Parts: sequence; structure tokens; C-alpha cells
Amino acid sequence: MTPLDPHKLPVHLAVIMDGNGRWAQQRMLKRIIGHQRGAETVKMVVEQASLLGIKYLTLFAFSSENWSRPALEVRALMTLLKKYMRQETERMMRKNIRYNVIGNRSELPDDVNETLDKAIQKTAANSGMVLTLALSYGGRQELCRAAARLAQDAVDGRLSIADVTTELFGSYLDTDNLPDPDFLIRTSGEMRISNFLLWQLAYTELYFTETNWPDFTINELHKALADFQSRERRFGMTGDQITGRGHPSNA
Ligand code: IPE
Ligand code: IPE
Ligand code: MG
Repeated sequence: MTPLDPHKLPVHLAVIMDGNGRWAQQRMLKRIIGHQRGAETVKMVVEQASLLGIKYLTLFAFSSENWSRPALEVRALMTLLKKYMRQETERMMRKNIRYNVIGNRSELPDDVNETLDKAIQKTAANSGMVLTLALSYGGRQELCRAAARLAQDAVDGRLSIADVTTELFGSYLDTDNLPDPDFLIRTSGEMRISNFLLWQLAYTELYFTETNWPDFTINELHKALADFQSRERRFGMTGDQITGRGHPSNA
């Protein structure tokens, strides 16, 4: 396995878990079997991320646009989500992991919200990794909800236009309590963001792999993290400024 530098891991790892349906269809199986196998990959990645000492792991589990899928698939995904939360909460307690959810929870069925609330409450005092599930989540929808709340606060006189900075705006987002992701992995070969964390990914390093989510392994996770460690993040500065190399002629 690729050796990793424990001091250069992403603080926040985000994942677009894609390719469950194709994984199943390639095997002449129903798409939901792919989602069930995908849930096993989730368990592996959660365990590995927590073992490696990653502080924040955010998983795109269901998008605002995924509501447009066939009703049978949507129902099966909601049932799988409830089963996962019920089965895994004890393990989260043992691993000191805290659950968090982003997205428009008012669109989720009541029974799903009840299961989520129980898991969130039970793990609320855990001080290890924060596992955020993006559910009924869309970046544009999140930005609109934030803008609406911010506008309401302005109308009510709680803030003035001059107060609106990137920090203030960020505090109206679902991710208020999370740092921006350092690294994003998307599986299944699609090279797009699909309305995930549009604001928060501004300076995130992106990684795409052809592997479908159910086939994503520990080795692949380590390979992706090793790739992250080889990158130079510049945040708009020059490479020399980042490395501290002096080039007086370029000053
Ligand atoms: C990702 O796998 C899981 C969800 C979006 C819920 P897909 O279901 O999108 O799998 P493909 O892209 O159809 O293969
Ligand atoms: C993104 O995958 C959403 C999740 C992984 C939950 P999709 O499969 O929905 O994305 P598109 O439709 O291919 O862009
Ligand atoms: Mg997909």
C-alpha cells in the first residue's frame, strides 16, 4: 500500500459516491443491489478515514435531483439509509464518530428524519471524526436557502449590507460548522460536481477514478490520498510563495 504522511492528510475529505447502478447493471443485477454493495464501501471508508485521523468526512448520499429517479429506487434508497443508520450507530459510538446531516431535511420522509435525529442525538457528544451525510442536498438549493435567510435578517434589521462578507455568507450555509473540503473523490469516471458543495469546493483538490463505488477499495483510498499529498495547493499565490523558495528577480 502507498505509504501516507500522517501530517499531510486532508482535514476534510468529501466523496461523491457514484456508480452503484452501473456496477449492478454490468452484473445483470437490480440497481438497488448496487446501492446495498455501496453501503459496504461506505462502512470501509468511514472506518479507514477515522483510523487515519481524518477529522471530517462528508459523503454525498442523495442529491436534490435524485428525487427524480423512479419512485421504487428512491424508496429503496430511503429504506437502505434507515437500515444503515440503525445498524451503524453502535459502531459510531465505539469509534467516537459524530453524525451530521446537510441538505433540505424537510424533503425527507418523517421516518427517515426520526432515524437521523436519533443517530445525531446519540452521537452528539462524540469528539472524534465528524461524519456528514449530504441528503436531499443540492449546492444551488443550499445557496438559495442561505440567501433567503440572510435577506430576512437584513429586512428585520439584524444585519446591514456592509456586513456581508464571505465569512458571514458561509455561516448561513448548512456547512457552517465544517471547514471547506481539502480533497474531493468522485468514483465511476464521471468528471463533474453534480451540484455538490458548490461554494465550499472553491479551493478543493479534485480526484476522479473510473472505479464504481461498490468496487472502491482501501488500496484505492490510499492511492487517492497519496495523490492528494503530492499536490501543491497555491490558493492564488505563486508556487515560490508556497514552498518558501526565494527568487529575488521575480519579486
Ligand atoms: C450513486 O450511484 C448513488 C446515488 C446517486 C444515490 P448511482 O445510482 O448514481 O449509480 P450510476 O451512476 O447510475 O451508476
Ligand atoms: C451524484 O450522483 C449524487 C450522489 C452521489 C448522491 P448522480 O449519479 O446523481 O449524478 P449525475 O446525475 O450522474 O450527475
Ligand atoms: Mg450516478
